[in-house]
Amino acid sequence: MAGDDYILIMSSIVKDFPGVRAVDHVDLFVRRGEVHGLIGENGAGKSTLMKILGGVYSDYEGEIFVDGVRVRIRSPRESIAAGIAVIHQELNLVPQLSVAENIFLGREPLKFFFFVDFTRMNRMAEELLSPFDPTIAPRTPVGELSVGRQQLVEIVRALSLNARILVMDEPTSALTEAEVEKLFEVIRRLKVSGTTIIYITHKLKEVLTITDRVTVMRDGKVVGTVNTSEADHRMLARMMVGREIEEAKREVAGYGAVVLSARNLSLLSRETPGKRILNNISFDLRSGEVVGIFGLMGAGRTELMLTLFGSPPGIAYGEIKLDGKPIKLRSPIDAIRHGIGLVTEDRKTTGLILMMAAGYNATLPLLPSLSFVNFIKRRRERELIERLWSKLQIVPRNPSMPAQNLSGGNQQKVVLSKWLAMRPKVLLLDEPTRGVDVGARAEIHKLIREMAMGGAAILFASSELPEVLSLADRILVMHAGQIVHELKAEGATEEEIMFYASGAHALEER
Ligand SMILES: Nc1ncnc2c1ncn2[C@@H]1O[C@H](COP(=O)(O)OP(=O)(O)OP(=O)(O)O)[C@@H](O)[C@H]1O
Ligand SMILES: [Mg+2]
Repeated sequence: MAGDDYILIMSSIVKDFPGVRAVDHVDLFVRRGEVHGLIGENGAGKSTLMKILGGVYSDYEGEIFVDGVRVRIRSPRESIAAGIAVIHQELNLVPQLSVAENIFLGREPLKFFFFVDFTRMNRMAEELLSPFDPTIAPRTPVGELSVGRQQLVEIVRALSLNARILVMDEPTSALTEAEVEKLFEVIRRLKVSGTTIIYITHKLKEVLTITDRVTVMRDGKVVGTVNTSEADHRMLARMMVGREIEEAKREVAGYGAVVLSARNLSLLSRETPGKRILNNISFDLRSGEVVGIFGLMGAGRTELMLTLFGSPPGIAYGEIKLDGKPIKLRSPIDAIRHGIGLVTEDRKTTGLILMMAAGYNATLPLLPSLSFVNFIKRRRERELIERLWSKLQIVPRNPSMPAQNLSGGNQQKVVLSKWLAMRPKVLLLDEPTRGVDVGARAEIHKLIREMAMGGAAILFASSELPEVLSLADRILVMHAGQIVHELKAEGATEEEIMFYASGAHALEER
């Protein structure tokens, strides 16, 4: 049955976790040299299926054929030996090691048979990185790079394995549009050279652009495989969620008073004296308003969010006012006390305590308000979680499960639920729907809208233009640490925003 046509056949694959059948008799047929999309809601089983292929889980049922040969993949090593490389959804880099060391970990080039040849290793890393981002220095410790750049390092590491089958599990979730374009160029080149690619994403636009065929999963099963040329956005979304999706409407209850204002906010780099990460930022945020920040990588979106949350990555100057009164934010605890919440960009290091039960994560910022009497706390906590989790459709609805066992998108929802529970005055959201499926994304957008209708002031940053355009009332465009343009979302075009975000306006003024 393993016809020559198919480079990979996964047949009747089953994988159980305690209480969950994550993959339920899945058949996947991947043609030689194609880009095969794999999509489905959060928790559908995509990553689990690819982890089986990558040798992470050896206790699966079913059969795998690579190039017509039956293989049993029991470890990551066996997966690599079968010609498979997997870029996992959660980054797997060692923060203390350099970019080059991470790329060649365990297979460093040697000199005199024994010593690592750092010069050669760094040069090789540089060559691999240059098509993506020539500014990433091979010697930099990975921990100092932004999430987007770390993701590029992860991609480059997998590419350096020269695999026959390359699996990318949401490779673009932290990349900017320009970087996505570069990745697509690389994918097209790999395709020409005969590499087969399995591509997981929640961005249907990417699926329609880069894949040849798409397999849709739901609840651990395959719903179907279609030719991309015969598919469209609506059809794929319907296959994924099994119903039509309704987008959040931009309803506005009317804005209230200015809640948060920033005046001449600047952030100086600690590492590079004289470098301004943020430069004279001023804006107001009203109660009931949803403001979106758009900027390309390095524009300062995340840095602005962190500064407003009392955790500036540098030396901050300027004034922040809350309800008209100047406030000092010395730490995130100060910010939380003032009713300011932040959903961070990187859920793995700052958003969640992965080993802790997901439910406790959800109520973490509430502890002061809940903790007075232990027993009341427990009950209130449980009620809150139940309400929020059903609203956000977090699956499985089991708050005692460690957060790290939830699927990527569901982890994101837990992070969000933890701040929703706090009912903050000001909610800062950095990439609120990264890795979240289309259905849940619409739910999250609705929740954000509802919070604004209830009087919260919302500031979110997103690298996805369509999200900024559909969710925000007003848009602040950032470039090189400054707010370079401000506009109403209604009637705004992608072209206008990109013009300012890319810095093209500054060139024209010269
Ligand atoms: N280590 C684990 N222990 C227990 N359950 C797990 C574990 N890993 C995944 N699961 C469960 O298996 C199911 C499938 O998860 P998986 O991560 O494969 O989903 P996914 O399709 O990749 O979702 P997402 O789009 O959110 O990344 C989910 O219900 C998840 O909670
Ligand atoms: Mg996943």
